[in-house]
Amino acid sequence: MADTKELINALSTKHGVERRSLLPILQGIVEKENYLSKESMLEVAKVLDISAAEVYGTASFFSFLDTKERGQYVIRVCKSMTCDMKGKEEILSTIESVLKIKLGETTQDKKFSFLETNCLGLCEEGPAMLINDDYFVKLTPAKIREILDRYLRNEI
Ligand code: FES
Repeated sequence: MADTKELINALSTKHGVERRSLLPILQGIVEKENYLSKESMLEVAKVLDISAAEVYGTASFFSFLDTKERGQYVIRVCKSMTCDMKGKEEILSTIESVLKIKLGETTQDKKFSFLETNCLGLCEEGPAMLINDDYFVKLTPAKIREILDRYLRNEI
């Protein structure tokens, strides 16, 4: 927690302590710690002098602000309509069968978390997904196997 406090102090020095500093501070925490713990959200509320409910509300509104500890690689498959019609279900079942986890879960070795997300703005090229900050489009089961294989072999 000492490290988290230091991090939040550094982020509030950089971004300020106004209400509009909330989002960049939360993003900065996720960048460093991979997710927003309850303790870090309480500390942000204290530093910005706003309610914990407001911090939590912002964190839960944006899907990229995780409030649960995630794996090293967070897979987010687009669940919106166009990708859905272009075969998202097959993509989900392929990921489940390769990683042996269900949607919403993290592998035991904490290497992958598997989630859905709203439209990534790549509808023309769907089905689409993100792995951390990298986009993958025009997905097929074969392409998914190839991509995950590269991650599993640490070739990314
Ligand atoms: S609907 Fe999937 S990227 Fe837009």
